[in-house]
Amino acid sequence: MPPSQDWFRSINNPFKAFRIHSEDGRRVEARLEEITLDDLGDGEVVIRGAYSSINYKDALAATGAGRILRRFPLVGGVDVAGTVISSTDPRVAEGDEVIVNGCGLSETHDGGFAEYVRVPGEWTTPMPAGVDARMAMGLGTAGFTAALAIHRMEQNDQVPELGPIVVNGATGGVGSVAIDLLSQRGYEVTALTSKTTATEYLKGLGATEVLNFKELELGERPLEKVIWGGAIDNLGGDILGWFTRTTKPNGNIASIGLAAGIDLSTTVMPFILRGISLLGINSVEVSRELRIAVWNRIAGDLAPAHLDQIVNREIELADLSRYFSDYIDGTVMGRTIVRLS
Ligand SMILES: NC(=O)c1ccc[n+]([C@@H]2O[C@H](COP(=O)([O-])OP(=O)(O)OC[C@H]3O[C@@H](n4cnc5c(N)ncnc54)[C@H](OP(=O)(O)O)[C@@H]3O)[C@@H](O)[C@H]2O)c1
Repeated sequence: MPPSQDWFRSINNPFKAFRIHSEDGRRVEARLEEITLDDLGDGEVVIRGAYSSINYKDALAATGAGRILRRFPLVGGVDVAGTVISSTDPRVAEGDEVIVNGCGLSETHDGGFAEYVRVPGEWTTPMPAGVDARMAMGLGTAGFTAALAIHRMEQNDQVPELGPIVVNGATGGVGSVAIDLLSQRGYEVTALTSKTTATEYLKGLGATEVLNFKELELGERPLEKVIWGGAIDNLGGDILGWFTRTTKPNGNIASIGLAAGIDLSTTVMPFILRGISLLGINSVEVSRELRIAVWNRIAGDLAPAHLDQIVNREIELADLSRYFSDYIDGTVMGRTIVRLS
């Protein structure tokens, strides 16, 4: 596909991008800058960004609280949705609406916090019917990951009849969307949160029970009394160990995050005596085929019903820096989308 008028207009014109720099690979400095397409990494597809979103990983990357970027400088933002303005990939045409999430965005490749984004065609997902850029980024990487986890659990025979699914980090992006999607699918959902004021919000998303995770008695036995049909874990650490010890026979635990720690302490007993499965969920290393399948489920039988409650902030690129500390401190609720143009 030959480059369009829009492409020629944009190629020499500076545009806004939120870039992350580091002198020594440790201390990072992130700021809004004007760059041109020449400053972006390679790829067959140029997208005019409509929306991006803030994910926990973006906060780690932009503040330096976690080592996310493998090279500097890079444009931040692990996801983006927008319109293709130029493509030399035969699978992607000018004018197509696309989503890019995960892959190497803001890790090895310039990310989605920019008015224009250039990526390999392989990374693009066609916008499914019934979804637009705002909705796609309302879900964003967090929502995609929640859907991927449920998809993997169901591939491994998770069904509502097996019992309630427990979701921790419940008020965060992954947690909020997971509760919404699971309850729409007919699962009973227990939300675990550290926020004492979040009960109404979480019940509004479909949680049948809300527990304060700081008040849980985790016990120490290799096998505790079974409670859960399955679990979605955003925290890691002791609580993930407890999930393995309290999940019913043949239940699935999706291990997604590390907001509370990277350790996991358990024994083989839940695996060999109860046949539970611990499913590792990685939203970055996903084939294009699976990525498209999961987004199509989001537009179909895994559609959210409460995204308007989950997306509670819409900001501009220029405002980004103000919001990362909420994610690092764990005080965030729901999702923040970033308007790009
Ligand atoms: N594997 C993947 O591909 C993948 C993809 C996306 C995200 N993730 C990971 O999944 C996790 C959640 O992501 P997110 O986008 O939902 O993040 P988020 O929006 O920042 O939400 C995280 C939630 O976890 C809880 N929390 C945060 N810090 C905590 C702490 N120190 N101790 C206990 N609870 C804490 C809080 O919920 P409550 O106050 O309600 O407890 C917070 O709202 C992150 O670790 C992220 O890196 C992984």
